[in-house]
Amino acid sequence: MPWRPDWAYSTALMTKALPPTRHIISINDLSNKEIETIFEVAQGLLQELADRNVHYRIGRSTDLAAKSVLASLFYEPSTRTRLSFESAMLRLGGANITSADPAVSSAAKGESLADTIRVISNYSDIVVIRHPRDGAARLAAEYSQIPVINGGDGSHEHPTQTLCDLFTLRSKKKSLKNMKIAISGDLKGSRTIHSFVYALARFGATIDPLPAPGMELPEHVDRRLREEFHSRIVSKAAGRSEAGGAIDALYVTADQPHQLALIPEPEDYGFIVQKKTDAVYVTRFQKERWAEKERPYPKIDAKFMRDEKYSEASVMHPLPRVNELDVSLDKDRRAIYFQQAAYGVPVRMALISLLLHLHKNKSLQQYPGGFAEPQHPVYVQPIGTGITCGNANCIVCDPAERQYAANKFYIVEDEARQRCKLRCVYCETDINEDAAAHFVMADMTRKIFSFGLTSLARVAAERLRHFVIYRTAAEATAAGFQPRETGKKAHTG
Ligand code: NCD
Repeated sequence: MPWRPDWAYSTALMTKALPPTRHIISINDLSNKEIETIFEVAQGLLQELADRNVHYRIGRSTDLAAKSVLASLFYEPSTRTRLSFESAMLRLGGANITSADPAVSSAAKGESLADTIRVISNYSDIVVIRHPRDGAARLAAEYSQIPVINGGDGSHEHPTQTLCDLFTLRSKKKSLKNMKIAISGDLKGSRTIHSFVYALARFGATIDPLPAPGMELPEHVDRRLREEFHSRIVSKAAGRSEAGGAIDALYVTADQPHQLALIPEPEDYGFIVQKKTDAVYVTRFQKERWAEKERPYPKIDAKFMRDEKYSEASVMHPLPRVNELDVSLDKDRRAIYFQQAAYGVPVRMALISLLLHLHKNKSLQQYPGGFAEPQHPVYVQPIGTGITCGNANCIVCDPAERQYAANKFYIVEDEARQRCKLRCVYCETDINEDAAAHFVMADMTRKIFSFGLTSLARVAAERLRHFVIYRTAAEATAAGFQPRETGKKAHTG
């Protein structure tokens, strides 16, 4: 479900009962207040259980989650995420069951994720999943009776890494507001970055993208930052406001829409451009998500960090590092990446215990954020016909899952272009109306089709199931539909 900002809640929504099972698939499934609650609990656990000599390391255990079971279901390699989740559960007094290698599980026999999760949710109380397909965790949540936590799905998102990142920043700098964070490397393929930039924008930080060549933020992430998270693009060179294409630009964000006015006017942008950086966040080349295994890639080293604008910048990395972060920085006072990895335990202890409702006075449900009704109508397509998600790595394109995962889209009104676009519910990539997709709307009752989605956005949700959307008129015709007005010139293609 898309994140809904705190201020967007009506009283009606606030009084509505929240669903009993929470899934954390995107960082946007948590409101800012809920993230703060997780941090308060994590801080409390650290105070109570930290190693006496190392303040950021959990060194003792509690019995808060005694008799609870965490299942780790990992279809991709992992060291930190899986082991810190399992350590967190053990430190809470609970137990773990683990499937860490798809080659030795029923996945190797061809079992679908949907069936696997239906089974595993009878064996445990909470599950963390990692999968190479974008949107896999959302599909798993649809088939699960217990909370599902996304431990990384393809290049989509990695929300609990972002919780660790924010907790680390908070421990250093206290508040994210007015912070400036440079992000270096593979901004396209890194799921950690996608969750991180949404959160930074939501907390009002300025993002300074430093992508490797050709590895800029994906278009749909960039557009969402600007259109839904209130970020403005400010050119680093000229200090002026840009329309888009943030290659040499900063994302400057107001944390609430009415505060947009508080963002300095163009003549003051120079101040933001010159402001010192609070953290440099480095990521590795995600070679498993690219066809080419070698690409030109930036290296962050002592020379890079000598620049005056980084003099007080913390150096962060979700790890593992390969060659993009020089080991000579390990001794630098600004390096905090091992502490960031250590925080995986208290932060995940907090998240698990809150999702299992183990705290008397703290709960994720006392706040209205997170699992809200979607802001956009959802169109669920009949399986086997109509438009498909354009992202070939989306879980709906996985032959093993196809019969369990209907193509399902949010119908998003694109105000700038006065049109609608479709956003896949699973991987959250958009299909925009363009030369390749005209969005032909076919009415299943009347067996006719018309062009464009504008009217569809206004169709009441319950009526959406009477329509099938096709990419082209030719596809609708092949499926047995006629153009609405005979004689009207049909789009071809
Ligand atoms: C990240 C991941 O898996 O996305 N690792 C992690 O969980 N800390 C980062 C990466 O693999 O580069």
